[in-house]
Amino acid sequence: MRECSFTNKAVLITGSGAGIGKGIAKKFVQEGADVFLVDINEEKLAETKEELKSITGPNQKIIIFSGNLCSSSFRKEAVEQAIGSLGKIDVLINSAGIYPSKPALDITEKDWDSVLDLNMKAVFFLNQAVAQTMIEKKIHGSLINITSTASEVARPGVVHYCSSKAGVKMMTQVLALELAPYNIRVNAVGPGLVETETLMNTLTTDEAVKEHDEKLSYSPLQRAADVEEIADGVLYFAGSKASYVTGQTLLIDGGYSAGRIFKSLK
Ligand SMILES: NC(=O)c1ccc[n+]([C@@H]2O[C@H](COP(=O)([O-])OP(=O)(O)OC[C@H]3O[C@@H](n4cnc5c(N)ncnc54)[C@H](O)[C@@H]3O)[C@@H](O)[C@H]2O)c1
Repeated sequence: MRECSFTNKAVLITGSGAGIGKGIAKKFVQEGADVFLVDINEEKLAETKEELKSITGPNQKIIIFSGNLCSSSFRKEAVEQAIGSLGKIDVLINSAGIYPSKPALDITEKDWDSVLDLNMKAVFFLNQAVAQTMIEKKIHGSLINITSTASEVARPGVVHYCSSKAGVKMMTQVLALELAPYNIRVNAVGPGLVETETLMNTLTTDEAVKEHDEKLSYSPLQRAADVEEIADGVLYFAGSKASYVTGQTLLIDGGYSAGRIFKSLK
């Protein structure tokens, strides 16, 4: 039987039906973990499970559970089901998130709540619920939140999104302090541009494509990230190599947040 770094570890990953969450799920399955995958999109979740089968070891478990993470009863059920099926949760990764655009002057309360409910409130209460199970079971676990360069660099048209990610960055730091006595580490990974299907589907106008290309040009490495490059950062935080790391955000953004590129100086 192959022995990997996450063999017998139980990992709950939200938003794992697509994009970055799906890439993270693949990474942890490759590393031997049992995974509990949560997403609102039942069909995509089933597809993910099917795709992961070919890399799953004989005793490894992949459990899927679909529902809306904005619902507190669904979140409670998801954590209970994960414990019921895997016995524990060693690692939580919050990747489910949405990133709609609208000018600040047009944003309604409904727009604001839809972003903050998923990107920030659901993230906090999942961290809380999973931390409670870790404390109860004396697990020295790892909680990892997917933020964004939007927590660092302001961008017009996404004030609700930027606010949610900046909030999660600070939430990560506060939780790291409060959970350190239990040896639970809390960190965040902030991706730069990742050309996931959802992101590419937002490029429906020439203007949006132009803006996307311009954003890419602001990354010193001049390209988008591969999902795997983001998953590698998450794996680092989850594992024993990061045993002394907590309260940190790792920006995997090709240098985008490091500073401004002045085109005239190139
Ligand atoms: N793609 C990027 O360039 C990028 C950059 C920085 C940060 N991020 C962050 O990475 C995370 C994933 O982004 P992505 O591009 O992979 O998106 P994605 O749309 O590909 O994946 C997000 C997943 O979350 C699920 N989801 C949405 N609402 C949900 C809900 N209410 N309950 C449960 N599941 C729900 C979706 O069904 C989807 O499968 C987000 O938090 C996003 O803010 C993405």
